[in-house]
This record gives sequence, structure tokens and C-alpha cells, in this order.
Amino acid sequence: MKKKGLFLPFAGILFLFAALLSSCGSNPESAESTATESETVEPPVMITSQAYGQLEDGRTVDQYQLKNANGMAVEVITYGGIITSWTAPDRTGAYENVVLGYDSLSQYLANNPYFGAIIGRYGNRIAKGQFVLEGTTYELATNDGPNHLHGGLKGFDKVLWSADTATTAEGASLILRYESADMEEGYPGNLSVQVTYTLTPDDALQVDYEATTDKATIVNLTQHSYFNLSGDFSQTILDHELMIAADQYLPVDATLIPTGELAPVEGTPFDFREAKAVGRDIGADHPQLELGKGYDHCWVLNEQGSMRRVASAYHPGTGRQLEVFTDKPGIQFYSGNFLDGTLPMPGGGTYGHRTGFCLETQHYPDSPNQKDFPSVVLRPGETYETRTTFKFSTK
Ligand code: BGC
Repeated sequence: MKKKGLFLPFAGILFLFAALLSSCGSNPESAESTATESETVEPPVMITSQAYGQLEDGRTVDQYQLKNANGMAVEVITYGGIITSWTAPDRTGAYENVVLGYDSLSQYLANNPYFGAIIGRYGNRIAKGQFVLEGTTYELATNDGPNHLHGGLKGFDKVLWSADTATTAEGASLILRYESADMEEGYPGNLSVQVTYTLTPDDALQVDYEATTDKATIVNLTQHSYFNLSGDFSQTILDHELMIAADQYLPVDATLIPTGELAPVEGTPFDFREAKAVGRDIGADHPQLELGKGYDHCWVLNEQGSMRRVASAYHPGTGRQLEVFTDKPGIQFYSGNFLDGTLPMPGGGTYGHRTGFCLETQHYPDSPNQKDFPSVVLRPGETYETRTTFKFSTK
């Protein structure tokens, strides 16, 4: 497969700037090493791309790799904006892939439970696939029992995005764009969407979402990576220690639609305010755990309306830690309950029950039908703008 190196005009300048800054520090060793490196001028975060495969209609799907000097590499394909691989360090400094995925486009096309994908127009469920906006009733596909899930039959996870690259002061970015036509999947308005993945030199991936419309519509975009910080996908995620900064969560009905109640987590298995192992209470006798077949709920994040640290996950065996920052009101924690040992793992075997978890930052499920939930309506002249950052470290 052909590899094209991409020209990064400002990266060299950035690197020189970084080198200058670190040479001002007190560590003589780092001053010496940057002096020699500055002669070869490597950008702190590199982007390369290659052809990944072809869709049935002949269009090419590309794969981009963002890689920083530490060794973190994030691979993204233009189909669905899917993160196919994402390496993170363990406490010995070894970078290993920590997201579930497949090893070919045909597998993503055949049956993908949203591994790594961008989700839209509406992440999560809308009851009975219906909502009323400005007096008009809209009908969406019911692709999850009686409900609409993750944008419908052909959501943003199943479309081809156009790609651009850039370097900024924050790192290197892959900019994905998609024009969603008026009434696509039943949603009103031509929606211009942009999702930017920016890898930083300090092992964080920023996901910036932007959208504008020419007619009132609803938008709720999210990222659906399944993490397993052990790097060993034959292991469950039950030993991961999870923290969610939320005093309340949204109980659901039998079809996983919120009942409308904001319930306190206190005294329930849904209390993750202090980090605890995912497996500690997942088997508890609680009606909400029965309905979700485990955790598959949206938490009402504290400190609404600000960018803040909302969740962290830690794998004690490897020391890997993931922290999630967002300005969104909610987070869906899904404990991989529907993984059932039927989907193929790269290198052989299949993904077993609860071998990956998702932390999907978002607005609350079914918001268009719940008058007390924050609005998800986007109108002409407004810009939908939101950021989520995934930061890796070790401890
Ligand atoms: C949902 C789960 C669903 C999964 C699909 C999650 O976002 O909350 O209920 O099964 O996506 O893989």
C-alpha cells in the first residue's frame, strides 16, 4: 500500500519553539539532545496516510496515522471517522493498542457495533424514532427495537468523510467533513459537519465537533471507541477502576429510553464518584442493571456548562490511565454488554462479553422528547460546537 508523507508547514517551527523552551529548562541532558534533534527538525506530531480499502461504489477509504514523539499512534479511517487503533503507554513505557477494532474494511462494512466510530446525527436513542420540531413530526428509522439508535440505518458511522490535515499549536489534526443532506435518515436540514481529531505531544486526543444547518434540526455527536486499557482483548474490563463525576444518572425503561427522572447515584451501583472497579457492583441486584444488562446508562455530569474532567479509567495491571474532559452535559458508560463472542478479533479469536467499554460524551438520550432535558436543537445561524479530550497517562 502506498504511503504518502504529508507536508506539515508549521510543524518544524513548532518543534524549534518546543526545543527552545526545553533548552531554557534546568536539565542539561534535554538541552543537549534537543540541540542535535533540531538539526533534523522532526515535527512533534506526524501525520501520514495510506489507502485502506474500497467501498462497493468504488470510492477509496483512506487511513491516517497521527503519531507523536512519545510513540502514541492514532489510526483513523475516512469511513465513519473510525479510530481503528490507538496506542497508549503502560507503566514501563510500552505503547500498545487499547481500542477494539477489526483488521479490514470488509469487517467494518459487514458488522460493526460502532467500534471507534463518529456517531450522528443523534448519538444514543430517540423513543419510537419520532420527534416534533417546530410543529412538524419527524419519523426516523427504528433500528433498535422500537427506538432509533445512533443516527439510524446509515448514520455518520457508515458514511465516507473527506479529510484534511493541519498542524496547530496544540499538535497535529485530522479534519473530517461530511455534508448530510436535508431529510437524510429522516432528519431535517442540510447539516455541514466537521470533526477534528488533534493528537497532542502529551498523549491527549482532542475531538472537536462542529455543525451548522440551513433548517432547524437536532444534533448530538459523539465518539464510540471501545477501550480495554490492558491491551489484551481476551480480558474483560471488569478490573478497570472507573470514576464518573456525576451525582445523578438517568434511569431507563425496558427499551433503554430515560424515564425522565434524574436519580441520585448515592447508595446505588451507579455511584462512581470515588473510583471503583467496574466489576464491583455490576452483578448487584438492581432493576436498572437488569434493564441495561449491565451498565448502559447516561450519567448527568456535575458542573454543567463548563469544560471539566468528567471521567477516568485506570487499569491496575498495566498502570494505564485514561481521563476524559468535556463540555457536554452527559456521558453514556456502556460496559460492552452486547459483545457476545461472535465478532472477530484481529489475530484470531473473538471479542468476548465485556471486553471493551465506551465513555460516550453527549446530550441525554431522547432529549427531543423530554422537555426538561437540555435542548439539542440547532437552528440556522447557530454553530454546534463542542470538545471532548481523551488523555492518557500512567500511575
Ligand atoms: C449503546 C448500547 C448499544 C451500543 C451499540 C451504546 O452506545 O448505549 O446500548 O448496544 O452502543 O454497540
